Amino acid sequence: MGRRAGKGGIEVKGLRSEKKNMETTNHQALIVDQFSKQAIAFSTAKTIADATAHQLLIDAVGAGPDDTVLDVACGGGNVVCAFAGIVRHATGIDMTPAMLDHARAMARERKLDNVSWDQGQATALPYADGAFIIVVTRFSFHHFIDPLAVLREMVRVCAPGGRVLVADMHTSTDPAKGAEFNRMEGLRDPSHVRALPVAELEALFPAAGLPEAKIRFYELRDELENLLGRSFPNPGDGDRIREIFRSSARDDRLGIPVRLEGSHVNYVYPVAVLAATRP
Ligand SMILES: C[S@@+](CC[C@H](N)C(=O)[O-])C[C@H]1O[C@@H](n2cnc3c(N)ncnc32)[C@H](O)[C@@H]1O
Repeated sequence: MGRRAGKGGIEVKGLRSEKKNMETTNHQALIVDQFSKQAIAFSTAKTIADATAHQLLIDAVGAGPDDTVLDVACGGGNVVCAFAGIVRHATGIDMTPAMLDHARAMARERKLDNVSWDQGQATALPYADGAFIIVVTRFSFHHFIDPLAVLREMVRVCAPGGRVLVADMHTSTDPAKGAEFNRMEGLRDPSHVRALPVAELEALFPAAGLPEAKIRFYELRDELENLLGRSFPNPGDGDRIREIFRSSARDDRLGIPVRLEGSHVNYVYPVAVLAATRP
C-alpha cells in the first residue's frame, strides 16, 4: 500500500513552491535591473542592430506581407522593426519597461505604423491561442529559468501552419567548456541563466510539440572591451572576465574562438537559429 501524503508532505510541497516563486521573483528583478541599465547600449550595439542577422531570421521563417509576427522578449525592438518592413503587423513583448521605451522610440524614428508593444512575461503570454502566424525570440533563452515553458507558450500563440523561431548563442559540445562559458556570462550579466548546446536547443522543439527544427548558424564577432562597455557586472568582476578570456585564448576553456591582438581580445559568440512549422 502506498504511503499517504500527511500534513508534513503538504507543508514541504508548499515550502518548495514558495521557494520557487521567490527564485522567480528574484530572477525577474535581476532581469529588469540589468536590462534597464543595458537598454540603450545593448540595443544599439552593432552586433545586435546588424541588418544581415535580421534578414537571416526573416528568411528562416519565410516572412511575407500577409503575416503577423510576435517577438517574445523583444528588448529594444530591433527584430520587430526589421520584420515590420516585411509583414502586415509585428508585435513585441518584453518585461523591461526601459527596453520597450527604446523600442517605441526606434519605431517612431523609422515611422513604422504596423507595430505594437506590450509589457509582459514570456511564460504567460497575454494572447489567444493561434493569435500570430510567426512567433520568434532572439537572445532570450539563456535568460529563462524554464526555456521549454516559454517555447510551449510560443507554440500556443502560433497559428497551426505558422512558424516558430528561436535564435540564441550556443555553447560548446564539451560540457566543461559550456559550464565555464555560462559561469563567465553569469559574471558579465548576473541575469544570465544558462546558454544551451545546440543539441539541447534542438531537443526543446519536439518536447514543445514541434517537428524537428531546421538549424542555421551565424556569429557575433566583437572585441571584449566593446562587450564589457555595455555590461554591468558586479564590482571587480570585469577584471575576472578579462582574465578568463585571456586564459581561453591559450586553452579554449570557454569553447568559443578567442584571439589576442596586442591589447585587444577578439571573440566570437556562435549563434544558432532554429525554426519549425507548427503542426
Ligand atoms: C539580451 S535581450 C534580447 C533582446 C532582443 N530579443 C534582441 O535580440 O535584440 C533579452 C531581453 O529579454 C527580456 N526578458 C528576459 N526574461 C524575460 C521574461 N521572462 N519575459 C519577458 N521578457 C524577458 C529582457 O527584458 C531583455 O529585454
